[in-house]
Amino acid sequence: MWKEIEPAPADAILGLTEAFKKDNNPKKVNLGVGVYEDGQGKTPVLKCIKAAEKRLLETQTTKGYLPISGDPEYSLGVQELIFGAESDVIREGRAVTVHSPGGTGALRVGGELLKKFKPNAKLWVSSPTWANHKGIFAAAGFAVEDYPYYCPETHGVAFDAMVACLEKISPDDVVLLHVCCHNPTGVDLSATQWDRVLDIAVKKGWIPFLDFAYQGFGEGVEADRIAVEKFAAAGIDFYVASSFSKNFGLYCERTGALTIVTTSKEEAETAMSHVKTIVRVNYSNPPSHGGLAAQIILQDEALKEQWMGEVAEIRERIKAMRKALVDGLAARGVDQDFSFIIEQRGMFSFSGLSDEVVAWLRENRAIYIVKGGRINLAGLTPSNIDYVCDSIAEALKR
Ligand SMILES: Cc1ncc(COP(=O)(O)O)c(C=O)c1O
Repeated sequence: MWKEIEPAPADAILGLTEAFKKDNNPKKVNLGVGVYEDGQGKTPVLKCIKAAEKRLLETQTTKGYLPISGDPEYSLGVQELIFGAESDVIREGRAVTVHSPGGTGALRVGGELLKKFKPNAKLWVSSPTWANHKGIFAAAGFAVEDYPYYCPETHGVAFDAMVACLEKISPDDVVLLHVCCHNPTGVDLSATQWDRVLDIAVKKGWIPFLDFAYQGFGEGVEADRIAVEKFAAAGIDFYVASSFSKNFGLYCERTGALTIVTTSKEEAETAMSHVKTIVRVNYSNPPSHGGLAAQIILQDEALKEQWMGEVAEIRERIKAMRKALVDGLAARGVDQDFSFIIEQRGMFSFSGLSDEVVAWLRENRAIYIVKGGRINLAGLTPSNIDYVCDSIAEALKR
């Protein structure tokens, strides 16, 4: 059957990493990847994860299946992390959480659940958004549309245009919003802008789907959840997709969660019964290892504190690299103002580098950046920052 079939196109970002791996230039730098790298260019296993895994190894007595929705203790840990332990949503039992294979799994399961009960809904994503969002929701059967988000001129949010679009979205539709550290732009909504978006959601009745893949990478584990807290306090239906790939460094362990917030305990139980039927026919029940490790950390005060410290180190390293890049370019006489990079949050920045510059850097300096100019700041290290600044300055002067 395959003789007649054209190969599918390679994933743009993963394809870039393949090309990077094959490059023999000893100075090569990968600013295209979507994973955190430390100052030595490694994606480390967090120390708190090593400690939790050790405990798990010593105490685990079975490899029996987890329940379809995962361990209830894990679900509670996730809810405390995203809403705060004192949240009314938890006290009132208005939310249910299923342990999913990564944030991707959470988005897909949530998408399928929504499609089942809102078959005519459109799903709206920011323009631009993480490359996989459109594919995930299209695969769940949605027509996917864009709402304005990024303004290249101001390097900020095109808020008026965004609001004008959100005001027109039908109550039957679903709107995907990045909670913090917007991927790919690094540009987030302010607290007041979130209030406005929430007002519109309440007034118009469309369903918010919050993608929370970088909790702790912006301002802090608690500071980053303000939007989720605001939506929770509004007493409306919404969804949250959590990923622990970045903030627990559990990429390959496929660890995440889908939380469905409803307006009563009874509704939440109904939602859980349906989400379980969707999980059952997809992957039956979640992979356990990453979730159990995260659960150990979230239930142990000392390990949790260690985790918060490690996340803070990651956050501060990325912020330091943002500043080093901006200062480094200014010191080389680049007259374009890159100071907006310091204001952006999370791993990514829409650098404003043109596709021409991106191509020149790859061909002549073995510096790999995604087309469109998205840079992963975590690809910068004290050893490559000068080389990268020299190369970008040269590319811009040309
Ligand atoms: C915005 C966003 N959402 C979700 C995900 C999915 O993460 P996971 O690897 O846990 O599936 C990512 C990963 O890069 C992301 O950037």
